[in-house]
Amino acid sequence: MKMTPVAIIAGSLLILIAVIMVVIILPYADTNKTIPSDLFRTRTAMEESGRHLYIANGCVYCHTQSIRSIDWGLGAERIAQAGDYTQDLPILLGSQRTGPDLSQEGGEHPNDWHLAHFTNPRTTRPLSIMPPFAFLQAPEMDQLTTYVQSLGLTHADARMQRQDQWKQASIQAYEAGIEQNVQWLHQNVPQGWRTIPSPYAATAAGLARGEKIYQDFCFGCHGPVGDGMGPAQPFLYPPPLNFTILKGRGVSGGIIYYQIMNGITGTAMPYFKRELESEKIWDVGNYIATYFINEIDANQEPKGIDAAYEK
Ligand code: HEC
Ligand code: HEC
Repeated sequence: MKMTPVAIIAGSLLILIAVIMVVIILPYADTNKTIPSDLFRTRTAMEESGRHLYIANGCVYCHTQSIRSIDWGLGAERIAQAGDYTQDLPILLGSQRTGPDLSQEGGEHPNDWHLAHFTNPRTTRPLSIMPPFAFLQAPEMDQLTTYVQSLGLTHADARMQRQDQWKQASIQAYEAGIEQNVQWLHQNVPQGWRTIPSPYAATAAGLARGEKIYQDFCFGCHGPVGDGMGPAQPFLYPPPLNFTILKGRGVSGGIIYYQIMNGITGTAMPYFKRELESEKIWDVGNYIATYFINEIDANQEPKGIDAAYEK
């Protein structure tokens, strides 16, 4: 065949059409057939408004919404499936994991935690590099929180239901007074943990580590002197625990460890089992017990192989 101008133009058009077909039309038709996954439900109008704020404020530049199988090691809840994104346009998968993945964020924390965190992330997380969003008006803050609490859809709904139920219980206990509150906090700690003393010695090195961990993770809520008056306090209800109310109650290292490990559902107290190793939890527990509760059941002398290198 001769390469006439007509043949060249017609040939180029044919190639262009074929490319558009394969790269755009076929995949589009295919994604339209995606079957909604087990967690799917449609979003409410309020959640949609929050999603717009999420896009407008650039959250997607730091947060992904896609858990991969390589994230299992980080304690991920559920690997993302195509059917999770059926109603999303644009899909907010994200590519930068500067912050944690948010695809299952709904119900991880109660609403008051998010209000403190969005207003200034350094209140709940002293080392956070997330920017503050204090410029958002109250209704926008509500919309954004509602959206973030819906991430994970029906799975998030189940977690939120748990949060709401425990929130009521925690407020009731807090309002009933110090005695009842401490009793409520501890009644959820399994019997076996209550009498365990801290196995890690409260040495000078251990307490110095505990202080560093306290400043990096706990300071924003429990405050510099452990009275619960950190910068997050005005946003949280029940407010962060004032550790000094535990004085003279014989609180064991085991109780403190259990609470830090698992957090307290319904309150802003997060769980730390996925970010602090066991030794760090005991160290920060010893720090609280020594300086704020003034009562400690840990040895002062290192014993056993683990701590033998400490003088
Ligand atoms: C510059 C990057 C950056 C931007 C932009 C950003 N974040 Fe974050 N975000 C982070 C980092 C880092 C963390 C982890 C530290 C912390 O908790 O603040 C985080 C944590 C979070 C968490 C807590 C996750 C958890 O359970 O611990 C939520 C929820 C969140 N961001 C939502 C948002 C929303 C909504 C926006 C937009 C309004 C946003 N982020 C914008 C970096 C960012
Ligand atoms: C976002 C705020 C927040 C952060 C951060 C936080 N806490 Fe808490 N903490 C709370 C709240 C709220 C309570 C429960 C108060 C209540 O229900 O009266 C609590 C309760 C506790 C308790 C329960 C004590 C008991 O006797 O049952 C311990 C222990 C504790 N926090 C230790 C820590 C440690 C250690 C850290 C840091 C690693 C930390 N918290 C970080 C808010 C926070």
